[in-house]
Amino acid sequence: MMLHDPAAAPVFFRDLAPAESFPIRAGASSVPAAGVDRPAGGGGASIVLDGVSKIFPARGSDGPVEALKEISLDIPRGEIYGVIGRSGAGKSTLIRAINGLERPSAGEVIVDGVVINRLDERALRAERRKIGMIFQHFNLLSSRTAFENVALPLELLSLPRATIRDKVSGLLELVGLTDKRDRYPVELSGGQKQRVGIARALATDPKVLLSDEATSALDPETTRSILALLGKVNDELGVTIVLITHEMAVIKEICHRVGVIEAGRIIEEGPVSEVFAHPRTATARSFIGSLPGREIPASLAGRLGADPAGASQVVLRLTLTGEAAGQPVVTRLARELGIDIALLGGQIDSIGGAPFALLYVGVPAAAEGRVRAALDAAGAVTEVIGHVA
Ligand SMILES: Nc1ncnc2c1ncn2[C@@H]1O[C@H](COP(=O)(O)OP(=O)(O)O)[C@@H](O)[C@H]1O
Ligand SMILES: [Mg+2]
Repeated sequence: MMLHDPAAAPVFFRDLAPAESFPIRAGASSVPAAGVDRPAGGGGASIVLDGVSKIFPARGSDGPVEALKEISLDIPRGEIYGVIGRSGAGKSTLIRAINGLERPSAGEVIVDGVVINRLDERALRAERRKIGMIFQHFNLLSSRTAFENVALPLELLSLPRATIRDKVSGLLELVGLTDKRDRYPVELSGGQKQRVGIARALATDPKVLLSDEATSALDPETTRSILALLGKVNDELGVTIVLITHEMAVIKEICHRVGVIEAGRIIEEGPVSEVFAHPRTATARSFIGSLPGREIPASLAGRLGADPAGASQVVLRLTLTGEAAGQPVVTRLARELGIDIALLGGQIDSIGGAPFALLYVGVPAAAEGRVRAALDAAGAVTEVIGHVA
């Protein structure tokens, strides 16, 4: 969970762009308290990318870099969309294209019906208020308390002090930091700093929240609590979330759909439970394979052979999702086929809110055909892992 993404490391102040990002226009927006007057699912915006490419020009001896290649995405409002990819795959460039910090070389970025890439700077600044962003290294101002960091985007809108105070108090409560309001970043834990970052990102009531490796500097438990908070923000405020990560555990925790990005292309996409059950690319398989509980148990690996000849048992990996995961598939199989089934390892989990089971089982070699036919009928994905003498 603590893998460091070097390409993501330097988070520059331009990413936050506080002075320019928010139009300085008094009374430009009404600022409702967080979570109030907001029907669930009603607060998000759709995001469409249509054939987006980004080429960074050559510099010195370094040739041009094609960071994004014809990316098309359709993210409905209120969705939590995950993008997973390795370092250098183009994740940050993709997310920066969504909020207009990077202008695509080709294609269109449409947020809430507005073509972002065609806006002039002034219109872009206004539009960016609808798009909050959080970062791996939080990007808090060290000279400002938690309260003052969250207040910053509202101060830039020249809102009345009382309005700012009420709004910030509501946001600090939403992220569970009411008691830390007067603490400086140096006095806060990583998780608390990210909570401040989330509250600040929500200050202008955005319809979209972009998260660039926001949990990559956090330990697994803190990661889970921050992801739970993002889930709550999505659920209660209806904010559409695009969440970028290099960790499948993050995708699995809260995303509805996932896109796998490699060398600037989305090479695979779908509902999280489907990509988990039927990964089509080697890259998706390797991300999924790195999750705990996915590996072949060590005690089993040592005994597995590739040769079916003379084997008494065949070892299968079953993946059950959705309805199939809730069914007594294994016991029913044993009963109906009159065979013994050895449970050798696996995990039972929830992915994208849907039940998910991955099981290693040993069945009599002689029954392999019948077992696989029955498992197919039950909606399980079955793979032969090896044979045991
Ligand atoms: N401003 C830039 N100028 C030139 N190349 C860039 C710039 N930003 C990113 N890149 C290159 O684009 C590719 C994708 O980078 P990035 O989107 O940061 O990847 P990721 O976030 O997935 O690690 C990398 O090869 C990176 O070196
Ligand atoms: Mg990055």
